[in-house]
Amino acid sequence: MAINTTTRPGPKSQAIIDRDSSIMSGSLTPRYPFVIERGEGAHVWDVDGNEYVDFAAGIAVTATGHSHPKVVEAIIEQAKKFVHIAGTDYYYDVQVKVAERLAEIAPFDEPARVFLTNSGTEAVEGAIKVSRWYTGRKHIIAFYGAFHGRTLGSLSLTASKVIQRDGFFPLLPGIHHVPYNNPYRCMHGRREEDCRAHCTCVDYITDVLFKRDVPPDSVAAIFLEPIQGEGGYIVPDQRFMQEIRDVCTKHGILMVVDEIQSGIGRTGKWWAIEHFGIEPDVVCSAKGLASGMPLGAVIARQHVMSWPPGAHGSTFGGNPVSCAAALATLELIETGLMANAAEQGEYISEALEEMRTHHPTLKHGRIDGRGLMIGAELVLDEARTPAKDLRNRVEKAAIENGLLILGCGESSLRFCPALMIDRDTVQQGLEIFDRTLTQVEQEYDLL
Ligand SMILES: Cc1ncc(COP(=O)(O)O)c(C=O)c1O
Repeated sequence: MAINTTTRPGPKSQAIIDRDSSIMSGSLTPRYPFVIERGEGAHVWDVDGNEYVDFAAGIAVTATGHSHPKVVEAIIEQAKKFVHIAGTDYYYDVQVKVAERLAEIAPFDEPARVFLTNSGTEAVEGAIKVSRWYTGRKHIIAFYGAFHGRTLGSLSLTASKVIQRDGFFPLLPGIHHVPYNNPYRCMHGRREEDCRAHCTCVDYITDVLFKRDVPPDSVAAIFLEPIQGEGGYIVPDQRFMQEIRDVCTKHGILMVVDEIQSGIGRTGKWWAIEHFGIEPDVVCSAKGLASGMPLGAVIARQHVMSWPPGAHGSTFGGNPVSCAAALATLELIETGLMANAAEQGEYISEALEEMRTHHPTLKHGRIDGRGLMIGAELVLDEARTPAKDLRNRVEKAAIENGLLILGCGESSLRFCPALMIDRDTVQQGLEIFDRTLTQVEQEYDLL
């Protein structure tokens, strides 16, 4: 199926964008000129009738694709029965079912307890609170490059872009940021091979932080993304992950993994942490969980989530319609979409590797990921100078050419389509990407 080539944004889109600009909060990040009319699977259409391949999935959210019939049916059926009752005060089966299912797939060998939220940031807030409550400790370690959300607690852990924090200090006290293991851009300035051989990112915690800053027995938790998302789709080393687990176990610190972007089958396993064979203590989930309906979860080892009645709650968290969508989503993911994510992801990674041969900006950059969580870094030279402006231009030019694709990190692009995407659509999206990158590299006189 060829993507039509009329002007984008068209007049109807432009009119909505103009109205939006004068009424919506100016804090929203500069957006791309795409105004959705409808979506189906991994395709979307704008209000002017233009079609696009969707490699963004609403920031890795629409796991089962846009408006999957089974998810839509579950939403309608639940909405006909009741839309809200407040799980803080009354009970309902669909909420229990989601919690039971999440406990079954929890990546640790111990019964779990679950707290349901509306969003990723709320899941992180819940995890901060349960960590402090359980350990009775005040301090938390998080990583540079991390994105954990924008409410004040989760924002205190976020250290992705300073604009996200600027103007909101003082944030939560007791948060300590340390370098995340990125062998491609070692924060200690080591070359890749040296970084892999002598990774000291965890040493920084043990030899610097614990000796000079904060005693380990006052640290409640280490929060980390098992694959850093907004930071650039960075897959850390096995050794780094194991050492974090060991430090946590040794000092009674909780290992909290933020799987809000990487979880729920996106990487070809339920959780990205499973690729490392490591068991965390607490998991935060959201994005893909209900295919776009607002739902998040804190999934903790049973003995950890032992706080008393009244310690935490939410009026809307675990909304019944969202829970119904989640049950349908989890079933679809288990019965085929997770395997598809692994297969299509491998194909995309191979195709990107192949594109290195004719794209100078891909040649020396990092192409990494798991399943359908793949990042491709655009760089200008062998020294890996980030091609930030060029990356931003690719995002915009891709829209003009009929592809939704999002950036992450300093100069990377992320490939995170719906888990149901088929080979033809993958192919179609990759062709547009290939053509767009050529066009932009020409604009920058690189070809
Ligand atoms: C890893 C991670 N944690 C937390 C969040 C925050 O989620 P939300 O935007 O639903 O609050 C995000 C969102 O991008 C994320 O990627």
